[in-house]
Amino acid sequence: MWDKRYSGETFAYGTAPNDFVRAHVAALPVGDTLSLGEGEGRNAVFLAGLGHRVTALDGSKVGLAKAQGFALKNGVEIEIIHADLADYDLEENRWDVIVSVFCHLPPALRKKVHGQIAAALRPGGCLILEAYTPRQLDFKTGGPPNAAMMMDLESLRAELGVLNLDFAQETVREIQEGTLHSGMGATVQLIARKALI
Ligand SMILES: C[S@@+](CC[C@H](N)C(=O)[O-])C[C@H]1O[C@@H](n2cnc3c(N)ncnc32)[C@H](O)[C@@H]1O
Repeated sequence: MWDKRYSGETFAYGTAPNDFVRAHVAALPVGDTLSLGEGEGRNAVFLAGLGHRVTALDGSKVGLAKAQGFALKNGVEIEIIHADLADYDLEENRWDVIVSVFCHLPPALRKKVHGQIAAALRPGGCLILEAYTPRQLDFKTGGPPNAAMMMDLESLRAELGVLNLDFAQETVREIQEGTLHSGMGATVQLIARKALI
């Protein structure tokens, strides 16, 4: 499905970074950054341009090829990993930042991936996440078609375990990110940080 979605010339979610990432980028440590479900590279290229060493992981080869081309065009380097998150090990103390932007997964896989994030971050490292909440089903302006694939603050708190939430809210906002996210949308946004000691 994703390869087909990304096969055109245009960028499904645009080439500008996600609004929440752009607004909060100064809060993130600059370093080794892993973007989960990065797609066509909009957030990876933005962060690489600010000095992050970005690894873009996605299950779509077509999306990652576009991400590499987009990085080249912008004069930055990113590493790409073609993998299914179901089989990918986030490693331990490996990342300064983990990015998850609209990376909607089936509940069991989401819990497994989120359960690895605290260990995968280095001390002081951050997860930055935006995702649609179940309320998004009322807006129909993007995102998966079923509530089980959406996220909410309460379940994220539980899934992320020991991480401290520097910023966390559910909100309704105007989203103009490519043709597939267009209009008012209901999202959860958070920045979760691993303690320094
Ligand atoms: C809605 S798109 C968001 C893309 C990008 N984060 C953005 O906001 O522009 C979701 C992305 O997650 C990826 N994805 C979904 N399930 C995945 C999985 N199990 N493993 C790896 N990538 C996955 C898809 O290929 C797709 O690129």
